[in-house]
Amino acid sequence: MERNSDGQDQVLIPEDLSESFEPIVGQSVTLRPLRREDVDIEAAFLSGLSPESRHNRLLGGMIKITREYLEQLTTVDFSRDMALAAALMLEDREVLIGVARYVLEAEGRACEFALVIADAWQGRGIGRRMMDKLIGVAGNRGLARIYGDVLSTNRHMLDFCRKLGFAFSRNPDDHTVTRVTLELQEGRQGPSLV
Ligand SMILES: CC(C)(COP(=O)(O)OP(=O)(O)OC[C@H]1O[C@@H](n2cnc3c(N)ncnc32)[C@H](O)[C@@H]1OP(=O)(O)O)[C@@H](O)C(=O)NCCC(=O)NCCS
Repeated sequence: MERNSDGQDQVLIPEDLSESFEPIVGQSVTLRPLRREDVDIEAAFLSGLSPESRHNRLLGGMIKITREYLEQLTTVDFSRDMALAAALMLEDREVLIGVARYVLEAEGRACEFALVIADAWQGRGIGRRMMDKLIGVAGNRGLARIYGDVLSTNRHMLDFCRKLGFAFSRNPDDHTVTRVTLELQEGRQGPSLV
């Protein structure tokens, strides 16, 4: 993290990761880096999730959504980690409908991802597009692998990961979750783009 001339923390946001597409005709969705100013729309996004999606994203609800947690989610050190938002305009207001992120491990060769799409927008290819992009960024940054912990009851996410080529294993620390891992090659652009 850097400090600007006012002495405030300034997170350097990569500019070249934005793109727009139409998952349904006439509705443009923008994928872009998640910003610190997104804290309120991130709060609305998480509180609008169905109990099931929230349960799946937060691994059974072990994580409490506090202001501190939201600020942590939206303050991304892009020199190490990545967080992508899917956003659209509804009645002149920007609304968040998806977040895909990874956090770099301490040793710096592997990263752990998390992904969630707003319930009303699931099943329209947005998760796939975001995951492709996230995998592409991790590959371009030379990371060796990307992994995640998925509740073993989350069949949809496990199917989703299988289609993307992830391998499955037991999480050594918690058997209620399945660890999904994808080995990366440098320069990989994401499974559907190669
Ligand atoms: C799992 C999740 C991220 C998938 O995102 P999505 O945008 O709904 O998925 P997509 O529309 O991109 O679909 C990707 C694939 O999943 C399949 N899929 C989509 N909806 C599905 C459903 N309801 N049931 C089974 N498969 C489904 C699609 O067939 C698609 O496969 P294809 O590319 O071969 O057609 C999303 O449903 C979600 O946020 N769920 C709740 C939170 C969660 O479980 N996060 C994972 C925590 S580790």
